[in-house]
Amino acid sequence: MKQLQQVLFRVPCGLFVVSAIRDGHPNDMINNTVFQITDSPLQLLLGMDKRHLTTEYIEAGGAFAVHFLPPDGLSLVKRFGFKPGRETAKFDGLAWRPGPSTN
Ligand SMILES: Cc1cc2nc3c(=O)[nH]c(=O)nc-3n(C[C@H](O)[C@H](O)[C@H](O)COP(=O)(O)O)c2cc1C
Repeated sequence: MKQLQQVLFRVPCGLFVVSAIRDGHPNDMINNTVFQITDSPLQLLLGMDKRHLTTEYIEAGGAFAVHFLPPDGLSLVKRFGFKPGRETAKFDGLAWRPGPSTN
């Protein structure tokens, strides 16, 4: 099992912040399972745990944003990747604004 974990740890992946808004409230999470599936039509695949608040927001609103993590984005990983939005005010002290949607 440990060997398998070591091999799987070497599978390359990206690291992203996934955002969604419901009733004017944002929620973000860290995600390393964002893939482009097709170019035309443009389709993305995201691995999302159904229990996450971000998943609930996306299902409710039908829209999400994917942000590339900057190289110095460790503080964002700590803020968005370990604390559930149901229990934590993830945006305390953080300025944000909604962007345009293609929906
Ligand atoms: C490096 C890293 C990668 C992660 N990748 C995913 C992922 O691909 N899919 C997922 O559902 N959760 C992933 N998570 C876990 C969520 O980011 C985390 O549980 C988050 O707190 C969920 O927030 P929410 O409940 O407020 O939506 C990852 C966490 C970290 C630290």
